[in-house]
Amino acid sequence: MTRPDYILFDEDSESIIYNYQQNAIQRMLDFDFTVKRKKPSVSAIVNPNRKGLHKAFWGEKEILIPMYTTSAEALKKHPKIDVFINFASFRSAFQSTKEIMESKSIRTIVIIAEGIPERQTRELNELAAKHKKVIIGPATVGGISAGAFKIGNTAGTIDNIVASKLYRKGSVGFVSKSGGLSNEMYNMISLNSDGVYEGLAIGGDKFPGSRLIDHVMRYEKNPDIKMVVVLGEIGGDDEYGIVEALKEKKITKPLVAWVTGTCAKIFSAGIQFGHAGAATGKQEESADAKNKALKEAGAIVPNSYDDFDAKIKKTFEKLKSAGKIKAVEETEPPKMPMDYAFAAKAGLVRKPANFICTISDDRGEEATYHGTPISEVIKDGSIGKVISLLWFKKDLPLYAQKFIELVIMTVADHGPCVSGAHNAIVTARAGKDLMSAVASGILTIGPRFGGAIDGAAKFFKEAYDRKLTPQEFIDEMKAKGILIQGIGHKIKSITNPDKRVDGLKDFAKKNFKTTELLDFALKVEQLTTRKKNNLILNVDGCIGILMVDMMKSTGEFTEDEITEFINLGIFNAFFILGRSIGMIGHALDQYRLQQGLYRHPQDDVCYM
Ligand code: ACO
Ligand code: LMR
Repeated sequence: MTRPDYILFDEDSESIIYNYQQNAIQRMLDFDFTVKRKKPSVSAIVNPNRKGLHKAFWGEKEILIPMYTTSAEALKKHPKIDVFINFASFRSAFQSTKEIMESKSIRTIVIIAEGIPERQTRELNELAAKHKKVIIGPATVGGISAGAFKIGNTAGTIDNIVASKLYRKGSVGFVSKSGGLSNEMYNMISLNSDGVYEGLAIGGDKFPGSRLIDHVMRYEKNPDIKMVVVLGEIGGDDEYGIVEALKEKKITKPLVAWVTGTCAKIFSAGIQFGHAGAATGKQEESADAKNKALKEAGAIVPNSYDDFDAKIKKTFEKLKSAGKIKAVEETEPPKMPMDYAFAAKAGLVRKPANFICTISDDRGEEATYHGTPISEVIKDGSIGKVISLLWFKKDLPLYAQKFIELVIMTVADHGPCVSGAHNAIVTARAGKDLMSAVASGILTIGPRFGGAIDGAAKFFKEAYDRKLTPQEFIDEMKAKGILIQGIGHKIKSITNPDKRVDGLKDFAKKNFKTTELLDFALKVEQLTTRKKNNLILNVDGCIGILMVDMMKSTGEFTEDEITEFINLGIFNAFFILGRSIGMIGHALDQYRLQQGLYRHPQDDVCYM
């Protein structure tokens, strides 16, 4: 693409955004959409930390922009990129800019960072001159070619851009030092003329990459620009470049100029006004002196900033009367869809939530467990309290919290031979990670192993509620061909009692207001152990039954709520949680022991 040298960027320009500036990227794309560009102005992002794709809005749709870790890679993949917009910090802006200097396709370099050491800026300026590139900045917001291309955050929000008619070209070339004041100037120009053709902020540094005069001369050469507006500022001698050009009659187009900082004379010398280059000091660097020199050289200079607009209007009207202004074809820019977050905040939209959560809330300063801030829960709380809040949605009495903890401690592990631990060990020894090993163990929990808690609670409670005798219950289950969950153990029996079950029973007897379901279950156990002495009330059964007694004891749950808890399968969670502790232990044990792959011994298999 060949462009006249007075054009820095246009509707075909493509840029790299160096550093992951998501807001600036979106603002550029919003501008592109508003001006109906054919292609996004951002072709690539350089994010030194991560490559991949960036998702952004293009109007109401979404598009993907490739993200690279180096500019070299981005430039290789996108050989038409002509604008490099560098959002690197002042620490890395020098290096990252230097790296792209030899790129053939890049014409314009924008350096946003403030505070780059002057020695480095000078070196960049020399390189830019050598490689025929134009630098805008450092310490700039950038610039805009109306209706064609916008750098980063220039001109602010899309509302401001539309209000300032920057979505289509006018006849005024504008250049300033300050990016902040440019937004106001775009507005002022649009109200007092047919609008901006191009606007640039060169930045407030002492040694800007390009100077006011460089851009004024580009505007002079551009036949579509009919008048020039300049906003200078106190400090430095940049404006004198324009004075000289005016004197040498190099500028033929009307030039309206104002240098801000006329108030500085009431301050003592040496005061710094925001920009590095804007300081009171030498007389000729004062705003008054520069305004005077500009006026004497032929610029149209208002008496104060207050009549800058009037001077712009008068100058434009004169050109119009002289027939030098082509009528601008007014178009209606497409409406930019409102961002959902903004609209929601303003109460303009509503949408049904996809999730409902009633147990915790992370929106405030501190997350809460069922309404209680975590810091308060842990003050004199325990795992029992956390579970009572997050699982039962109640601040259960202390004895209930203690019972919950007792259950978790009790079921944490039962040696390496039980199904779950065995699976976790085999998985760990197959070289799998901790999560896989634990998941494999947990997946073993079911109606025969560890997961008989819910079933026990369900069947015993139903039988008890239906007032069946223990024998009727056993007979009914036998008739249905269902093993009673919570009864029976592989190694524990009447003669080798399960101490865990004894511990749980003791606690309940001492602390619960009622143990009616336990009492019923113990009568069932008396009958089943008569048949075989391992058909004891096992640890799963004891937990399931005592959970029902615990809930009844607290008086905080209705019968229906208890049944609902059982039907939802919540009680098995105590085994899942508790036994995870043991499974993690077993997996870690295997890793520490550097155990190799396990293969089951063939002599332990009966081959048929
Ligand atoms: N209810 C009624 N009868 C039973 C039960 C039971 N839960 N368990 C075994 N029996 C009967 C069997 O039907 C068999 O009767 P039979 O001789 O007339 O055929 C007899 O008792 C012996 O059965 P086995 O299968 O030899 O008992 P085993 O010791 O292998 O089973 C097991 C133990 C698997 C725990 C079994 O009792 C059972 O499935 N129980 C229910 C599930 C359960 O509670 N699991 C949790 C265990 S604890 C834990 O995992 C943490
Ligand atoms: C366990 O807690 O894993 C057991 O009661 C099962 C078993 O076989 O020991």
